[in-house]
Amino acid sequence: MSVALYPGSFDPIHLGHIDVIEQALELFGTVVVVTMHNPAKPSGAFTLDERQAMIAESLAGCPGVSVESFPGLAIDAAVRFGAEVIVKGLRSATDFDVEQQMALTNHRVGGVRTVFVPASPELSYISSRYIREIAQYGHDLSRLVPVPVASRLSQLSARRANP
Ligand code: PNS
Repeated sequence: MSVALYPGSFDPIHLGHIDVIEQALELFGTVVVVTMHNPAKPSGAFTLDERQAMIAESLAGCPGVSVESFPGLAIDAAVRFGAEVIVKGLRSATDFDVEQQMALTNHRVGGVRTVFVPASPELSYISSRYIREIAQYGHDLSRLVPVPVASRLSQLSARRANP
């Protein structure tokens, strides 16, 4: 078994991400979930620390999983956390186009291979972007996110209503 790095912006983590982590655990035995900055998504709902805290709460007691954050590149995070491989989930052809380019670049520059796992069909529509948008209006999102995240999202809408 080996160590896989699962990097993402996780703003916030949702059930599609959890599914990828479960698949990666089956394949590699150990998964380091790393909250990172995506330069294409500069403004998020949660800080890096808040995202990492929600992931840690959602995955508490899950054997083989560790939760980290890292301010730089995924290839440097792989070295830092002793990961031999990067894991990414794919929901669609659009995801593939972006992820293939990153995977090839990361391999050429850092020598780290990326393994893609397909999102389970019943979860493949879930996106952090729409979760953030709907949360602003106070709807219950517990069918899309782990319980600790659902409660943080409800605080987000309360914060918006009473700034
Ligand atoms: O959940 P996301 O937003 O799709 O995750 C994208 C993320 C954070 C994994 C990606 O932007 C990333 O790897 N960021 C770290 C910076 C990096 O390594 N850039 C070089 C890409 S080839």
